[in-house]
Amino acid sequence: MDIDSGRSNLKIWFILIWLMINCTNALIPRALINKTKNIIPDYYIKELRPPTSRGRPIEVDFSMRVMDINSINVEDMDFRMDMFLKQEWVDARIKIPEELFEYGDDSITLPSQFFDNLWQPDLYFLNSKVVEIATLTHKFSSVTLYKNKTIKYAARMHAIVACQMEFQHYPMDTQLCPISIESFSYNNEKMNLKWSSTGVTVSPELKLLQYNILPIDLQEKNVYTGEKNGNFSRLVVNFRFERQIGHHLIQTFAPSTLVVVLSWFSFWLGLDAIPGRMTLLVTCLLTLVTMFTGLRSDIPAVAYIKALDLWMAGCMISVFAALAEFVIVKVLNAKYQTRKTKDKTIAMETAIAPWSGNTTKHSFSVPKQNFLKLYWKTKKGKEKVLWREIDRYSRIIFPALFFIFCGLYWTILLIGTTPVLI
Ligand SMILES: *[C@@H]1O[C@H](CO)[C@@H](O)[C@H](O)[C@H]1NC(C)=O
Ligand SMILES: *[C@@H]1O[C@H](CO)[C@@H](O)[C@H](O)[C@H]1NC(C)=O
Ligand SMILES: *[C@@H]1O[C@H](CO)[C@@H](O)[C@H](O)[C@H]1NC(C)=O
Repeated sequence: MDIDSGRSNLKIWFILIWLMINCTNALIPRALINKTKNIIPDYYIKELRPPTSRGRPIEVDFSMRVMDINSINVEDMDFRMDMFLKQEWVDARIKIPEELFEYGDDSITLPSQFFDNLWQPDLYFLNSKVVEIATLTHKFSSVTLYKNKTIKYAARMHAIVACQMEFQHYPMDTQLCPISIESFSYNNEKMNLKWSSTGVTVSPELKLLQYNILPIDLQEKNVYTGEKNGNFSRLVVNFRFERQIGHHLIQTFAPSTLVVVLSWFSFWLGLDAIPGRMTLLVTCLLTLVTMFTGLRSDIPAVAYIKALDLWMAGCMISVFAALAEFVIVKVLNAKYQTRKTKDKTIAMETAIAPWSGNTTKHSFSVPKQNFLKLYWKTKKGKEKVLWREIDRYSRIIFPALFFIFCGLYWTILLIGTTPVLI
């Protein structure tokens, strides 16, 4: 009995296993396996480029959609970009059986693993530091095969791209960042790159904190590359990042202008408030120095003069000149005081002279006054003092000079940074 029941159990197990094998077989679509194998015929060598009529270069269409640009890094002079890439070319060797296309379709999309069986254009970014295909559980890429033997490869990538930045016009600079794409091993007799009709587009949602993205321009070039000793077809896309001036208007230009204006108030203070006038001017100067020291952390130290440095220099010189004017006025006032007392005694002595009888002795000291007129009388008999006049004229000359400086500075800067679009 025991042996019998054991045998029948074994039989049931065999039946079960047999059923399972048959079922799994039915689950794998045999026909499909056979057919995907048929797409790539036996004579296909994926290392060889697709044949073209009369050995002409194979055309590869390229397009790019920029999803995100972030961290434009002035320290390392690079920026990070997230994008969709598409490459399209025709490979006459592939054979796609009709049955593979779903009803009404003229293409099939296959996962990226299939791409490894095909010939691939070996394109690379000339100025990239890092390029990676985005991955979650697998690479975000796909291959689409069309009935007319066009192969389209799409991938989501992110790249860190180097960009040679210039800061002469900082903070009104526009950074030109080209990205160049080239084949690594096929020269322009073997492969020709073209921007597809969509070219490069930027996602309309994309916003950068400090920059505006100016219109993009695309180029197709043939460039002699010394390292690879040949002429290569090259695609270039020029990104232009224009710095938004708003931040610097509020943080730099407005406060420093106010400080300069503040320094002019000293011309109205006279010399009764010497400590007050001194404190005002020195505080202005120190405020400017601190303000501009704080700005330096924004961009790396560069060897040349930036537009912002010129502005700083203009403000500093203006306040410094006001301080110098104060010192001159102070010295002139001291001289004026001594001269005035001296002149008073002389006047008194000359008044007494006709009675004392020695006029020749004092008449020599009188012409000395003409060397620098510390004070004089107008025709109406009003007394004018040199230092007061200097203060009075400064009230007009200082603002006038500063406004001329501002006018010149902004005109030159605006003309100089107007983006020239080719
Ligand atoms: C698979 O292909 C081979 C030869 O290409 C053929 O002999 C075989 O019958 C095919 N199998 C199926 C299930 O279509
Ligand atoms: C192949 O077909 C697709 C879809 O119809 C089309 O977009 C593409 O331009 C065609 N390619 C060629 C080389 O004709
Ligand atoms: C590259 O192109 C230039 C001009 O078109 C030509 O003079 C030169 O010989 C080419 N160089 C190579 C290596 O083909």
